Amino acid sequence: MSFALAITLHVLSVVVWVGGMFYAYMAMRPAVGQVVEPAKRPALWANTLERFFRWVWLSIVLILATGFWMIFGVFGGMANIGLHVHLMMGLGLLMMLLYFHVYFAPFRRLKIAVANNAVEEGAKRVGQIRKIVGINLLLGLAVIVIAVMGSRM
Ligand code: HEM
Repeated sequence: MSFALAITLHVLSVVVWVGGMFYAYMAMRPAVGQVVEPAKRPALWANTLERFFRWVWLSIVLILATGFWMIFGVFGGMANIGLHVHLMMGLGLLMMLLYFHVYFAPFRRLKIAVANNAVEEGAKRVGQIRKIVGINLLLGLAVIVIAVMGSRM
């Protein structure tokens, strides 16, 4: 795998993950609040997030594989990377932990609530997911700034 291919796959995966969060948070969330009646919102979110999260899993695998391949295969190990890559890795791993939490806690409970027609419980879980995705979106945008500016300084 060449450096060019690795960084291309790395950035494409970032586009899918961070762009998807931007769309969900900035466009879909306010639209759902205006257009969709409250009883149907949890099922809509469970359905759309289920599809989006499949792509996030793939993105995470590719970000980790290409990121660590670049560090060890191109730069020659952790001792040789710049501060921007350390920050990217630290914040990137934090984003992944937050995503794992969303996936295995509130999102799993949201799906159970939808299956049981528990609208109030579902709405509560959607609210929890929204908060954490909001944090991850900000982190993701910050990491892109750090990575792109840092690699040119
Ligand atoms: C554990 C996770 C990660 C590792 C090990 C990693 C590693 C790397 C490495 C080694 C590079 C090449 C840096 C250079 O050429 O100076 C890179 C580039 C990049 N990374 Fe990551 N990364 C990770 C996560 C992320 C995340 C979560 C994002 C964004 C949300 C991100 C965004 C970028 C971008 C935009 C570039 C291209 C920088 C440029 O050349 O303009 N990375 N990453």
